[in-house]
Amino acid sequence: MHKFENTWLYQREKIDHSSKNLKIIDKINIALKDLENIHILDLGTGTGSNFRFLSKKIKHKNQFWTLMDISKSSLYQAKNNIILNNKIKKVSLKYNDAIKNIKKTNFNQFDLVTGSAFLDIMPYKWFIDFHKLNQNTKIIYFSINYDGYFKFNPHHSLDNKMLKLFNKDQQSKKDGKVEAVGPDCAKIIKNYFSKTHKTFLLNSNWVDIKNKRFQLMFLNFCKNVINKNNKNVLDEWLEFKKEKILKNQSKLNVYNKDFLAIKI
Ligand SMILES: C[S@@+](CC[C@H](N)C(=O)[O-])C[C@H]1O[C@@H](n2cnc3c(N)ncnc32)[C@H](O)[C@@H]1O
Repeated sequence: MHKFENTWLYQREKIDHSSKNLKIIDKINIALKDLENIHILDLGTGTGSNFRFLSKKIKHKNQFWTLMDISKSSLYQAKNNIILNNKIKKVSLKYNDAIKNIKKTNFNQFDLVTGSAFLDIMPYKWFIDFHKLNQNTKIIYFSINYDGYFKFNPHHSLDNKMLKLFNKDQQSKKDGKVEAVGPDCAKIIKNYFSKTHKTFLLNSNWVDIKNKRFQLMFLNFCKNVINKNNKNVLDEWLEFKKEKILKNQSKLNVYNKDFLAIKI
C-alpha cells in the first residue's frame, strides 16, 4: 500500500482543484444530464478532495457518492469534512483495498467512476481488470495523473538526472509487492478504454507553483527518492533547490493529465 500523509493531501487540494481541466467537467455534465439519479464512486478518495471538487462542479441535483480508500485515517478525515446539500443526497464511505478486491467491487451500480492522483500508483494488471469490469460504465474520469515531468525553476544542471531517478522510483515496488505503472498511467488507461468508450486526455498541469510549504513537501519526496537510491551525487541539487525555495526564488511545475471516457 502507498501511504500518503493527510497534511500532504490537504496541501495539494487547492492546487489540484485549480489545475483540473474544466473542459472535461463540461463533458461530464452533458453526459449526465438525462439521468434521474447519479451514483458516483471515488477510488482512493483520501481526505475527499476529488469528491469536494466534483460534487460542486457536477450540476446534477441527485448525487449519491461512495468514497473508497485503504487508509482509515484518510477516510476519517473525509467523513468529518462531508457536508450534505441539496445536490449531494448521500455519501457512503468504504474502507477497501481497490487492488486486492477489484473483482469484488460492483462497478455496474455506478454511472461515474472517478479518482484523482490515484492511477499512477496502480499496477499494470489493475488496468486490465478495471477495464474489463467497467466496459459498460457510462463515465470514467481520472484527474491529476502524473505525466512524467516536473521542474523547479531556476534550472540546475542535475535537473534531468533527478527527473529520471524520480520517474524510475515512481514505478518501483513501494510496498515490496506491487509495481506501480507511474508516469505511464494516462497512456495505459486511454489505450484500454479507447476500445469501448470515447476518450479524452487533457492537461491538468501544476503551473508555476510558488507556495513555499508545498514546494518543500515536494522536494522532500525527491529527498526520499535520493536517499532510497543512494544517489548522494544529487544532494547538491537538493541544497540548491531548497535554498531557492527558502529565498522565495523558486517555482514548481508538474505535468499532469486528466482522463475521461464516455460510453459510446
Ligand atoms: C495521492 S493520494 C490521492 C488522494 C485523493 N484522491 C486526492 O486527490 O487528494 C492516493 C490515495 O489512494 C489511496 N490508495 C492507495 N492504494 C490504495 C488501494 N489499494 N486501495 C484503495 N485506496 C488506495 C491512498 O490511501 C491515498 O488516499
